[in-house]
Formats: sequence, C-alpha cells, structure tokens
Amino acid sequence: MNLYAKLLLLGSICVAFIAVRWSAPSFNKESLKGARVLVTGASTGIGEQLAYHYARLGAQLVITARRGNVLEQVVSKCLEMGAQRALFIPADMASPSDAESVVQYATEQLGGLDYLVLNHIGPSPYRMWDGDVEHTRWLLEVNFLSYAQMTQKALPTLEKSNGSIVVVSSLLGKICGPFALPYATTKFALNGFFGGLQHELAMQKSNVSITICTLGLIDTDSAMEKIKGYINMSAYPAHEAAWHIIEAGASRQSEAFYPWYTFYACLFRDWFPNLRDQAIQNSYTYNPQVNKEPVTGS
Ligand SMILES: NC(=O)c1ccc[n+]([C@@H]2O[C@H](COP(=O)([O-])OP(=O)(O)OC[C@H]3O[C@@H](n4cnc5c(N)ncnc54)[C@H](OP(=O)(O)O)[C@@H]3O)[C@@H](O)[C@H]2O)c1
Repeated sequence: MNLYAKLLLLGSICVAFIAVRWSAPSFNKESLKGARVLVTGASTGIGEQLAYHYARLGAQLVITARRGNVLEQVVSKCLEMGAQRALFIPADMASPSDAESVVQYATEQLGGLDYLVLNHIGPSPYRMWDGDVEHTRWLLEVNFLSYAQMTQKALPTLEKSNGSIVVVSSLLGKICGPFALPYATTKFALNGFFGGLQHELAMQKSNVSITICTLGLIDTDSAMEKIKGYINMSAYPAHEAAWHIIEAGASRQSEAFYPWYTFYACLFRDWFPNLRDQAIQNSYTYNPQVNKEPVTGS
C-alpha cells in the first residue's frame, strides 16, 4: 500500500470514528411518559428548559432551586404543557440537609425516582482569581458535594427502577481556561467523581446509568451577563442544550457533548498543547482595569 492509500485509509477511519461518536442516540420519547424525574436548578436557564421538555413528554416532575416563587410559576407552566404531575421544593444546595431532603421529598411524592438530573450551580464571579478560597469552598459544596450527596441518597431507589443520573457539566471541567477558576474546579471534580462512579457501578453490575453532559457556551441570562466584555463567542440555545441532555440521559449514554465543538475540543485537547493554550488565551479579552473589578452575583 503506498503512502497516499495509507493516508486515505487513516482519514476514512477517523471520519468513521467521529461519525459514530457524534451520531444521535436512539431515543424513545414514549419511555418518558410518566417517568419520575427530579431536576435541580430548575427555576431558570437550562434547568427550566429541562423541566419544560420533560413536561411536554408527560413526565412526573419535582423541581428544585432556592426561589420558591419562581419555581411555582415553572410548575404551573409544566402542568399546562402536559406534565402528569409537577411539584416543587425550595432548597439551598449549600446545605447538606437540604440536598438530602429534596431527594427524600421527590422519592416520597413520586413513589420512587427514574431520573435524577443534577444541573444547579451557585453564582460565581467571572474574573481573575482574587485568592478567595472561602468562595471556592462554598462553591464546591453547592456545585459538587451536593451532587454527591443527592446521588448517595437516590441510588437505592434508582437501583430499583433501573434509573439514571444525569450530570450537567461543562467544557471548563475538561479543559482549563481563565476567569472562572472556582467554577471550573467544581466541574473537574464532578467529572472525576461521576466518571469514577460509572466504573464502580459497571463493576458491580448496577442497573443505574450515569450520563455526564459536557456543555459549551449556552445563552442563559446568567452566562451571557458573566462573559460580557471577556469573550466574543456565539452561544447556543438553552432549549436545544436541554433537549440534548434529555436525549442522552434517556438513551443511557455515558457521555454527551453539546454543541458539536465541545466533542472535538475534548478529542484533540492534548494533541498540540502549546497551540491550544495560545488559542484559549487569545480568545479572551484581558483588560486589567475591567477584569479585576468585582462582579456582582457571588
Ligand atoms: N450557560 C452556559 O453557558 C453553560 C455552559 C456550560 C455548562 N453549563 C452548565 O449548565 C447548568 C445550568 O447552567 P445555567 O446557565 O442554566 O445556570 P443558571 O441560569 O445560573 O441557573 C442556575 C440554577 O441553579 C439554582 N441555584 C443557584 N444557587 C443555588 C443554590 N445555592 N441551591 C440550589 N439551587 C441554586 C438557580 O436558582 P435559584 O437562584 O432560584 O436558586 C438556577 O435555577 C450548570 O450545571 C452549568 O454549569 C452552563
């Protein structure tokens, strides 16, 4: 075989590999009718869109976040959209007892659980790291430890129902970037924990699936507000991101990527590290006057 033929063969194998990895999972919408679903961080953003999609599919929902008045409105819309049931429970995921009682409430109200969708994040400033270790500790509690705690509490009931855990993570949990160090730390922690748990559940022949979703920039109000002035990049719609998350969870994929570029970014992450780092640094604006200022919302 000459060099040209070898290159052609290698290219075809790469294309076939990428096509298979990127092909849409098979997904039976009927399987979600009546499914018992708990969605966290559902008062706004991607979590709110998750709730609406599950509602349209006829699921039974419990949603949670801190603001009860906003959750109440989301619940009303879910019922209008076709949810078999929709309930809410206000909770602060910085509190370990709240994280546990949310799972208990959902399990009791729905008579078990088929999907635990972990999506919430605490607010965190978008700026150069200012040395605030306390904020990182608090954010780990909200964005990571509460996920582990809810998982531990939900596993027995999910085991009975052949259920699924869906974890909403980020490209910043796979590839390092500037300006969001505490947030990225919590996302790396999630990938390490749930990636390891996938192995342990498989080794124990568990019925529970875990789907880890890697998202790029999504057009939620909170994300758009944060990145203003730092990075000029197009954001993808939250309702589409939410649909991909649901699809991946229902088809029990171990990993999901949205939008498309997140998959390639992870695939080629370590091929040319110097080029990668240069590209990352060049894609952000760094203005010491602006980027050091405290950002509201933390
Ligand atoms: N948007 C993006 O560009 C993007 C990119 C990659 C990954 N993601 C991931 O996608 C998920 C959703 O992101 P998003 O942009 O939709 O976030 P968001 O709009 O900021 O929503 C965050 C949700 O978490 C709730 N929350 C905040 N603090 C909480 C606390 N202490 N306890 C309980 N709930 C709390 C919020 O409601 P309350 O204020 O009512 O509590 C809200 O419902 C996150 O896991 C995020 O990491 C997003």
